[in-house]
Amino acid sequence: MTDEKRIERLSAMLKRRGIVLPAFEIYGGVSGLIDYGPVGASIRRKVIQNWVEHWTVNGDIVEIDSPTITPESVLIASGHVGEFNDLMTQCGKCSSAFRADQLAENYHSNPDILDSEEIDDILVSNSIECPNCGANEWTPSRPMNLMFGTKIGAMKASRQAYMRPETAQGMFMLYPSLYRHFRQKLPFGAIQTGKGYRNEISPRQGMIRLREFNMAELEYFIDPENPPLVDISMEKETISLIPDPKGKEREVIKLSFHDAISQGLIKDKTVGYFLSRTWDFLINVGIDPSKIRFRQHEGTEMAHYAEDCWDCEILGEHGWIECVGIANRTCHDLLSHEKFSNSNSLRAWREFDEARVESKEVLSPNTSILGPIFRGKAGSVLEALEELKELPNTLPFQLLLNDGVEVEITAEMVERKIVSKNIAGEWFTPHVIEPAFGIDRIIWHILDHAYEETEKEGEKYNLLKLSESVAPADLIVLPLFEKDGMGDTARRLNSRLNSMKGVTSLIDSSKSIGRRYARADEIGIPWAVTIDHTTLEDETVTVRRRDDQKQIRTEIKELLSLVNSGNVSSLF
Ligand code: ATP
Ligand code: GLY
Repeated sequence: MTDEKRIERLSAMLKRRGIVLPAFEIYGGVSGLIDYGPVGASIRRKVIQNWVEHWTVNGDIVEIDSPTITPESVLIASGHVGEFNDLMTQCGKCSSAFRADQLAENYHSNPDILDSEEIDDILVSNSIECPNCGANEWTPSRPMNLMFGTKIGAMKASRQAYMRPETAQGMFMLYPSLYRHFRQKLPFGAIQTGKGYRNEISPRQGMIRLREFNMAELEYFIDPENPPLVDISMEKETISLIPDPKGKEREVIKLSFHDAISQGLIKDKTVGYFLSRTWDFLINVGIDPSKIRFRQHEGTEMAHYAEDCWDCEILGEHGWIECVGIANRTCHDLLSHEKFSNSNSLRAWREFDEARVESKEVLSPNTSILGPIFRGKAGSVLEALEELKELPNTLPFQLLLNDGVEVEITAEMVERKIVSKNIAGEWFTPHVIEPAFGIDRIIWHILDHAYEETEKEGEKYNLLKLSESVAPADLIVLPLFEKDGMGDTARRLNSRLNSMKGVTSLIDSSKSIGRRYARADEIGIPWAVTIDHTTLEDETVTVRRRDDQKQIRTEIKELLSLVNSGNVSSLF
């Protein structure tokens, strides 16, 4: 049975312990904006660090960083100015605005796929009430663009711009530099973490729907005709997959990634590979594997840029929530940016296995006749003849030069010929597979899955069983008392621990030892190290394990060596 109050207790704990709090609270707060407090900011940093390390380990993916303010032209080309919309409706009585698909949620299995008329029908035929005032009068739903607009520069010299709604465009802008970096060889990828901004119509559910949020995206550039050889030896776990039901009932299919790909349920191997790597990342940061599923988008639900998309959904207190979208963006973005920017630098060269011989009919110029007739213009005439796409059926004909002038070409000036040449390869626009992660949604689920309520000596006792990889600190040092040199010994040990590479240790000497253990357990610190009188005599400490509160005495020397090798758990 679900405990409806658990979410309130968890949210209150997150606030009390400085993990996640409403932003600008002394001014009443703003929905969709949050703060990570002193503990939460460390967790956020660790999750992002894990994410970056997860993708850069093989060397084919590099990290980049680009501006959050984006000129309008970029987002016109990407399609966001025209199509990055949600359907909005307003209450006819109190004027509150809502996302129309969210109002219809309980009356349709996937309102994302509906158009405005279909959603309006659902609102009327089910007499859906306004969550704010209870009325059931709705304005016809209409699309609202989700981007925050801004200006670059002032007054007349200013240019329209937007706060980026996704980090992805930064990677597309840097494609030429990435192509050079990887020595003109596909496949390769670029990742970026940073803020994304969306003016969500009705933010709700705490960290799930924010107006400014932490994104982590990967764009992997491939040659669709020579897809990368990915390792699909993912026999291991059975995964819950929900393929596009194509108008029928949705069905959960349990298969390994390997089988899902070989049976064609996941069409594209590269997409399948990224689904599997996404799974690995989520498990590493502490998401419960039984609460992960992958759902394929239905045709009409897909973003404007995608050909295929799988959402990775995680189950938590808010139900199943999309936390990662893995999309096949094909060549949509690069092609569109080439067109809008008039650049030809967003391509890749594909070498043929064997050079191809290409024959074509040309009008070969007779320069001894052309030269004296056209003189200074002869160069332009030769160029225009070479670029001629369609040969005229008869001669003479009018040839259009690049400067817009037309000249007459007669039969003696040219000769029809078939010429052959060896072609070594061709230019093409790479395709892109994109895993897009919402870091805040993932952090929420990490916290939700790690949060455990127990009882201790008749009182409620909370634990945050965070994975060591994302805990806000690795250890906490607790002097039993400040007196007799215990405080100083604790501070010295804490400094030594913090000077070790990659280790974070905290120290806490206020209030009773029991209260300090409880605080450390509640913010998820895996190991507590207690300094007592015996420590002063024999250089031993007590190490306490958060998850079962078991304690073991060990020498400081031994502890330091185990912390250094990341193996404190072997003490128990
Ligand atoms: P939704 O349908 O929930 O609005 P989306 O399909 O628009 O999400 P994407 O555009 O695919 O989401 O964004 C990529 C990821 O960014 C999502 O999987 C999600 O984790 C995260 N994300 C999107 N919108 C928000 C938001 N408003 N607040 C927090 N995270 C978000
Ligand atoms: N870059 C993916 C998204 O924003 O949806």
